[in-house]
Amino acid sequence: MMQKAIFHLHTHCSKDASIQPEALLDFALKHDIKILGVTDHNSIQGALEVQELALRKSSAVKVIVGSEIATESGEVIGLFLKKDIQSRMSVLKTIEEIKSQNGLVYLPHPFDTLRRERIRDKSLIEQNEKWIDVIEVFNSRCLKRKDNRNAAIFSDRFQKHQLWGSDAHFLYELKNCIVEMPGFENQNDFLEKLKYAKPIATKKSYRGFLQSILRKYLFF
Ligand SMILES: [Fe+2]
Repeated sequence: MMQKAIFHLHTHCSKDASIQPEALLDFALKHDIKILGVTDHNSIQGALEVQELALRKSSAVKVIVGSEIATESGEVIGLFLKKDIQSRMSVLKTIEEIKSQNGLVYLPHPFDTLRRERIRDKSLIEQNEKWIDVIEVFNSRCLKRKDNRNAAIFSDRFQKHQLWGSDAHFLYELKNCIVEMPGFENQNDFLEKLKYAKPIATKKSYRGFLQSILRKYLFF
């Protein structure tokens, strides 16, 4: 059976985000979201909090524990993590850490030309291509359509699994990007089921993009 999912989202554990676990879970229950891929900056704390709350409430929401890790050359997401991964390491070392935890490597907004944290050196992506499990082919905060399209072209070229990320930092951004996919058991099954994943909402988030910048630098 297909289930609704939101991937690439931030909680209050990210400096530029404000989503509280309680509110996130309320949103999921209200909108029948069954899978949440929580990926705070350099920390799995937010994902663990949401997971713990989901279990405590005996909800059917499955939380994928992840983190969006700042490498020395741009951001890489690890999914199915068990512990934090240090930031500012090389892309390869970060990928090795993710793999050593049996995690999956998810490349967020790889070609977003408006974003400082993308991997600018494309040869780094190509060199490490075999370790990448999932490419984010749409990100709601990627404001130029061409940049998302380039990610899709890359994923087609290397035959990678595709995902669509909300990159939600605020509650109102959660609805921007919703994916449908079959339920899964574990990491390998997740990858298998991604073959059937498809987006059912893909909206851009101009407001969220600006609000995060303000929050980060002015503590709004
Ligand atoms: Fe993000």
